[in-house]
Amino acid sequence: MDNNISLTLKVWRQNDAQDKGRFETYKLEAVSTDSSFLEMMDILNEQLIGEGKEPVAFDHDCREGICGMCSLYINGRPHGPDDDVTTCQLHMRKFKDGETITIEPWRSAGFPVIKDLIVNRSAFDEIIAAGGYTSISTGGVPDANAIPIPKDDADEAMDAASCIGCGACVATCKNGSAMLFVSAKVSHLALLPQGRVEAARRAKAMVSKMDELGFGNCTNTGACEVECPKGISISNIARLNREFLAAKLQD
Ligand code: SF4
Ligand code: FES
Repeated sequence: MDNNISLTLKVWRQNDAQDKGRFETYKLEAVSTDSSFLEMMDILNEQLIGEGKEPVAFDHDCREGICGMCSLYINGRPHGPDDDVTTCQLHMRKFKDGETITIEPWRSAGFPVIKDLIVNRSAFDEIIAAGGYTSISTGGVPDANAIPIPKDDADEAMDAASCIGCGACVATCKNGSAMLFVSAKVSHLALLPQGRVEAARRAKAMVSKMDELGFGNCTNTGACEVECPKGISISNIARLNREFLAAKLQD
């Protein structure tokens, strides 16, 4: 059985944030369906370098679905056609021989393009920094294990903590809202006693920073949950709204 496919790639090229950008079309032959999507991009770049052309700039780091660095809008979906996987975990067996694949950067006011497929996601770092540290002395592992935490709360906190900060939720949202990301970050601490100490301040500060950085309002479309590679639930947004409201009432 032939496990190689030929592809036509329509790739967004943009020199910098000021450049208008444009699609460029490339042909790739004999790409193994066992390759990951990013390995396919590596093959493209080797081909471009061999032709004396500039390789395509794209973000990646762990290539294991952990770090949140990979991104890419692939055929109109963040992280491509597979569900619950990051672009680095997407495999070329999801594509057909002869297929045309359109590859774009995240497109959102909060994530300006730096070059080609790389966008600036430092707004997320600013939101995290606004959340601040937990000041409670947590002690060693035996001390943490001595704090009784209901299993459901621990499970929900761990689910929320699986957000890798990739930004797909923002990119897919027609409003460019960062609520799923912020709600995951607020939830994973608010659900645990160690995070309750600063919970009110944290919710207000992170929401305020999100608004200041120009992310849009959440209108509960649910698109973020559908495209999140880590399955972060929009129930976290409801929790963030409750945390924020309670914090405001304390003012
Ligand atoms: S909530 Fe999901 S889509 Fe949004 S940043 Fe976290 S992992 Fe990515
Ligand atoms: S490169 Fe780390 S999550 Fe994809």
